[in-house]
Parts: sequence; structure tokens; C-alpha cells
Amino acid sequence: MSRPYETREHDVLVVGAGGAGLRAAIEALARGASVGVVCKSLLGKAHTVMAEGGIAAAMANVDPADDWRAHFRDTMRGGKFLNNWRMAQIHAQEAPDRVRELEQWGALFDRTADGDILQRAFGGHTFKRLCHVGDRTGLEMIRTLQDRGVQMGFHVYMECAVTKLLTDGDRVCGAVGYWREQGRFVVFRAKSVVLATGGIGKAWKITSNSWEYTGDGMALAFDAGAELVDMEFVQFHPTGMVWPPGVQGLLVTEAVRGEGGVLRNRLGERFMERYDPEKLDLSTRDVVARAIYTEVREGRGTEHGGAFLDISQKPAEYVKRKLPSMYHQFLELADVDITKGPMEVGPTCHYMMGGVRVDAETAETSVPGLYAAGEVAAGLHGANRLGGNSLSDLLVFGRRAGLAAAERAGRTGPGAFDERQIDEATAEMLAFFERPDGESPYAVHRDLTETMQSLVGIFRNRDDLESGLAKIREFRDRWDRIRVEGSRLFNPGWHLARDLKAMLTVSEAVARSALRREESRGAHSRTDFARSDPTWGKKNIVVKRVGGAMELSERPVPEPPPDLKTILEAP
Ligand code: FUM
Repeated sequence: MSRPYETREHDVLVVGAGGAGLRAAIEALARGASVGVVCKSLLGKAHTVMAEGGIAAAMANVDPADDWRAHFRDTMRGGKFLNNWRMAQIHAQEAPDRVRELEQWGALFDRTADGDILQRAFGGHTFKRLCHVGDRTGLEMIRTLQDRGVQMGFHVYMECAVTKLLTDGDRVCGAVGYWREQGRFVVFRAKSVVLATGGIGKAWKITSNSWEYTGDGMALAFDAGAELVDMEFVQFHPTGMVWPPGVQGLLVTEAVRGEGGVLRNRLGERFMERYDPEKLDLSTRDVVARAIYTEVREGRGTEHGGAFLDISQKPAEYVKRKLPSMYHQFLELADVDITKGPMEVGPTCHYMMGGVRVDAETAETSVPGLYAAGEVAAGLHGANRLGGNSLSDLLVFGRRAGLAAAERAGRTGPGAFDERQIDEATAEMLAFFERPDGESPYAVHRDLTETMQSLVGIFRNRDDLESGLAKIREFRDRWDRIRVEGSRLFNPGWHLARDLKAMLTVSEAVARSALRREESRGAHSRTDFARSDPTWGKKNIVVKRVGGAMELSERPVPEPPPDLKTILEAP
């Protein structure tokens, strides 16, 4: 018998309210759909704000030689050619319009002397390409999109977590969730569902991600039968705070290096000269993260196990104007004045290149009625994302997802689902309270993050990955025995118990894909297969649920057409 639940109905349900979710919602509304946006947290609190340094778009305001072709080439090269070429092309072509549109909606960008949107340098971008608002670009993006969406009239369901997608045959037609405050269940009926839930940073111990990022959308899509791809590629941003311990992992924007910040080891050596003598501190993130990790491992790290990042050679006023958040972050949290001395920084888990496989034109997943955009989706970034390409990704593919989801809603009726799906979802949530004794969700989460950090981290090898997988299987058994104390009201242990299910599914997909890819490429570095292998360079790894079990397969990377190949071959 069904437990009591509320029902809400929309044409389009957007799960997640970061940049991609908000942009999708705005587009679906503009196409006449009724739109509900569900967010696990409060509106405006999204990992989007952690993309501080800028939005990559070939506007050519600062470097007139820039154009979409150069951006496309940089993105494909950064991704080691595992990217979905069509997504990379669309992204490079449409990003400038999406930035201009954001400006029309009220975003206040920094300006050039001529009054154009100012652009700065970032790793792996040939030209100064990042449109920015000091070091608060993601925040400005969220503020602008949120204002726009609220004005247009989307319904926001805050502090609500989705636990299962509802299906009618093979199509998605809604979702089950619960209000985090009260613990009551809610059912959303929708003609299309857009996942925009971000990544899975909270499965690692040192991370720039906050508590919301537990792989929810990837696990929801996987459970509904969608394909995941490129799950072995996890981005460790080279510069997170390493000290004091309470703020370890907090992001130190790449804009520090974009504005002239220099990395040095304990001996004062500019060590990037050894790892990438051409691009130095503005090499791609995978290279810089490995370099810092290696310096520390080989005994040249700072007192707290990082590297020094110094921008104090620039005038203090310049630093405060260009990097106001970094200035305050270090002063208030670490008692360091970055205009006078260096920061201590080290790699932090920041972003997931892998995710739900989508169609480049529509952002539709392999399950009808289910769309995905932003970090939850995969394809654009291949084996390694360039900084700044996530904010443009959110805008470009958020818009496309919203558009396609609304169009679908206009031509389909509401699906009918079997109530048993709701019973199963609610029973699973309530089971945590019904066990007489059992595991603590906090202990399982702590052990998972330690395992992912030490065995599925920046450098990997077969033995570590196999041990990691064995541990993930143990954690799954422990998850089955989790007991939660207290009631459904304001119960963080209960929320974590639920989040852990998603984290375990996605962590397994990451570890298995990493074990399968016997080479090093982009963000995936195997010490036992240290070189890139051209055979693997032609394959993506796809993860899918088959008969209740996780299965991996290899798919050829689609070849770009000749005109795009010519662009890629240019020097
Ligand atoms: O370093 C940063 O500001 C992060 C940007 C990004 O992840 O795109």
C-alpha cells in the first residue's frame, strides 16, 4: 500500500539548480512549458559558484585572433580527443552568444578599456578567453540566472531530494523525492525530466565540492537504464587550500595563475619548468595537479604538503581588484595576506568529466524523456576539462536541454507509472529506521572518501584499483545494514544514508572504468601503464545497468568530419 505523498505536476521537471538547471528552466519556460526546479539545497547554492575565474568563450575582445575554431581545437586537445566532437563544436560556436545573453540579463562583467567584456588567460586556452567578474564569475552567473528564472515564473522546490525516476515502459515520466526538512514524500509528474545535479566530489576526501555533490543524477540516470561514459576521468584541480585543515580542498581559483601567479616548491624552484616548459603554470589542470603531487611526494612540498602559489610580485591594489575573494579567503581563513606572501596550495577533487551520455544536439540521454546537462552529463570535455569550459558548458547545453525537453513536452502526454515504483522508493528510504541496529552512515562515508582518495586518486594502478573496488563492494554490504537514529525531521544522517547509495554506484563506475582503461590519458594516470595508447585513444568506456548489474563496454570515439579534422590539425 502506498505511503502518503504529495503530488506536483509540470511539463518539465529540472532536477538541480546550478547554472545548467537554471539555464534549462529558463529556456523551457521561454518555450511555454510549465517548469518545476527541484534543488537539494537552497536556491543559489551551487557548485557553479566554484568556477570562479571565468566563462570560456571566443569573444576575441582581448585577443582578436581568437575564434570558435581555436576554442574547439583547444577543448579537443585538452580532452585528448576523447571528446564528443560535435558537442565541442556546438560549445565553441554558441558560447559567445550565451555570454552576451547573460550580459543582457544583467550580469556585470569586468570591462576592457573600450568597454567590452574583459577576458583573461587560463590553462590550455591559446588566447585570453575567460570572460569574468573578478574571481566571482560563477556567483554572478547564478545570481543573474536565478533572477531571470524567478521573474519568468518557474516553481522552485528547495531542500528537496529526488531518490528515483519514475518510468512508463522505457520513458521517464516523473520522479519521487522527499522534503529534507520534514521528511515527507513527494511525487513529481512530468513529461520530460532534465538532470542538472552536478558531480560527485563528495566521494573524495579532499574536494572543492560541498555536501550536495554526491553523484545523484548519474545514479538516477544509471538506475533508469541510461548510459554513463568516460567515468574514469575525474578532475583534480591543482590548487585547493591545504591549510588550515578545516578548509582543506577549498578552491583557489586558476585565475590566480591567469593573472600572473607563479608556483614554486619548498626549494624555491619554479618546478613547472620541468613538467611543461612551454605553458608553465598555465598548463592544463591534469599536468599541473600531477606536478604538484609529484613535488610533494618527492619531498619538495611545503610544510603542510602543498606547493607555494605566489602573486605578491603584483601590486597589492591589482591583486585586490582582480582576486577579491582570494584575498579575503586567505586573510580570513588562513591568516595569509596574499599581497605580501605566497599561498599554500595542493590538488583537490573538483569536477567529473564523465557522466550521463547525451545526444549533442538535444542533451537527451539514452532513455526517452530524460535529459542531462552540465557536470552530470559527459562528452564535451573528454579526458580533461579546460578551466572555464564548465560555465560555458552549463549555458550552452543547459539551454539546449531546456529547449528539447519543452519541445518533447509539447508533443507527448503525461506518462502513467505503476504505484509500486513509489512504494519501492519510499520503502527503501524508510528501511534505514527499521533496523534494530547497524552501521553509521557517517562511518561508511568516511571510509569511502578515504578509499577513493588513496586508491582511486590522481595516480592509479591495478593493485590499488582492485583493492578500491573490493572495498566499495564491502561498503555496499555495509550500506545494506545502515541504521539511522531519530525521526524523519531534520535528520542529516538519513540524508547521508540516501546520498551514499548514489556515491557507491558512481564510485564503482569510476573505479571499474579506471581499471579497464590500461593507459594514461588526460586526468587518468596509471603508473602501471604510464603512456597513452593509440588504441585506447579511439575508445570511450560506457557503463550501463544490464539485468540489475553494472556492465562496461567499449565504444569507438566518433570521428570528426574532414573540415573539423583540418581545424584540429592546424598548429
Ligand atoms: O579555477 C577556477 O576558477 C575554476 C574554474 C572552473 O572549474 O572552470
